[in-house]
Amino acid sequence: MTGPGTAPRDSWATRAGFILAAVGSAVGLGNMWRFAYKASEGGGAAFVVLYIVIVAFVGIPLMTSEFVVGRLAQESPARAVRRLGGRAWGPLGWLFILCGVGILSYYSVIAGWTMRYAFDAVRNAIPSDTSSYFGQVATGWDAVGYHLLFMLLTIWVVAGGVKGGLERGNLIMMPLLFLILIGLAIWAATLPNGGPGYAYYLRPSLDRLLDLTTLASAAGQSFFSLSLGMGALMTYASYLKSKEDLGREAMIVALSDTGVAMTAGLIVFPVMFNFGLDSQITQIGDSTVGALFITLPRGFEQLGRAGDYVDTAFFIMLFFAALTSAISLLEVVVAATVDGIGVSRRRAAIGGGALIALLGLPAAFNTTFLGNLDAVVGQFLLMLGGLLTAILVGYRLLPQADAELAKGLPHAGLRRVWAFLVRYVAPVVLIVVLGFLAKSTWNAVVGLVTFAR
Ligand code: PHE
Repeated sequence: MTGPGTAPRDSWATRAGFILAAVGSAVGLGNMWRFAYKASEGGGAAFVVLYIVIVAFVGIPLMTSEFVVGRLAQESPARAVRRLGGRAWGPLGWLFILCGVGILSYYSVIAGWTMRYAFDAVRNAIPSDTSSYFGQVATGWDAVGYHLLFMLLTIWVVAGGVKGGLERGNLIMMPLLFLILIGLAIWAATLPNGGPGYAYYLRPSLDRLLDLTTLASAAGQSFFSLSLGMGALMTYASYLKSKEDLGREAMIVALSDTGVAMTAGLIVFPVMFNFGLDSQITQIGDSTVGALFITLPRGFEQLGRAGDYVDTAFFIMLFFAALTSAISLLEVVVAATVDGIGVSRRRAAIGGGALIALLGLPAAFNTTFLGNLDAVVGQFLLMLGGLLTAILVGYRLLPQADAELAKGLPHAGLRRVWAFLVRYVAPVVLIVVLGFLAKSTWNAVVGLVTFAR
């Protein structure tokens, strides 16, 4: 069961270590950079409401499923789906790997921006003209340099193993992240003119609630933010040995992730409105990708000296969030390589990481390419992976999966609710959303191919 490698399989030292790592994977750039701009595109509060509904009825049941399959399999998802589901499910394993590689390749570029911003914030070197500063930072050789540096760090942590790398890294970074986050939210509440920001963010507009565009973008965002659909959390759960309640663990992870996203919104929107930057979010238009990086530092700057500390704290927090997610993306690829070919973890981390670093180069030169890659892999393929996982667990593995879940969750009624959500609700929602996104995703694919030529 442990594959060709002969060494015993690595595992978490503590339950808290596992939960913190799963929260670390979920909480990332998605919660700040992506959530803020998706929410502003999706009409603020309407988006937030749909987002929460999707997390509750699709996200948590699917996360539970990933945890269950991972602990049941005790091996990398890429192999597990094939062994448990049968040959026909082999391609799902490849889809997981493709998502890990594809997402990390551009995720690391954005993470590189956060590093650069953090360095410049410490030295007080972020200029007032944040649009052209972002333009310089975001693409070109500078972006490549920071992208490579970030990939090196990610490789370094992952090469350290489950206990020494993943668990220890999260144990250090996540508490710091929470502290900074809460500090910033309290500070944002003291801004004199942030009120309209909260209103925009929290007052639902009914018409947008019924809008399929908003639903699709909320669903896509929830998959990305919860790290679902590509076996990342499945991989983490495969290092579990104990019999904890996986439904409860999924709930903790999803609530923490949503809490961080909501709190980040409580920082971003008041800052934007307080400094009258709200119109710029839409003006930035195509490069909504850069919204957070352009507007926030401009707001921070207007604070004078205090802003110097606030922006440093903000970008360091973003950097930690990115790193703890990136290691889970690389871990999917590394686990598959270690379990599948039997090479050492170190080699797998270096080889896989180098390949991903290389594949990230186009995104470091062109933000449109980055946006298209995010639409195809970070949104569509993740939800496709989620749909297939729901079908696999709900229709093919249900008896085994239910028995595995029962080890920590003896309540049969709750497990029946879970099975219902996995078998019916998640697939229906995902099929509708994937159908709705098919055309725009196809255009993004065409964009990627044209760029490559
Ligand atoms: N959840 C991470 C974030 O919000 C991104 C991620 C997606 C990580 C998929 C792992 C798997 O930034």
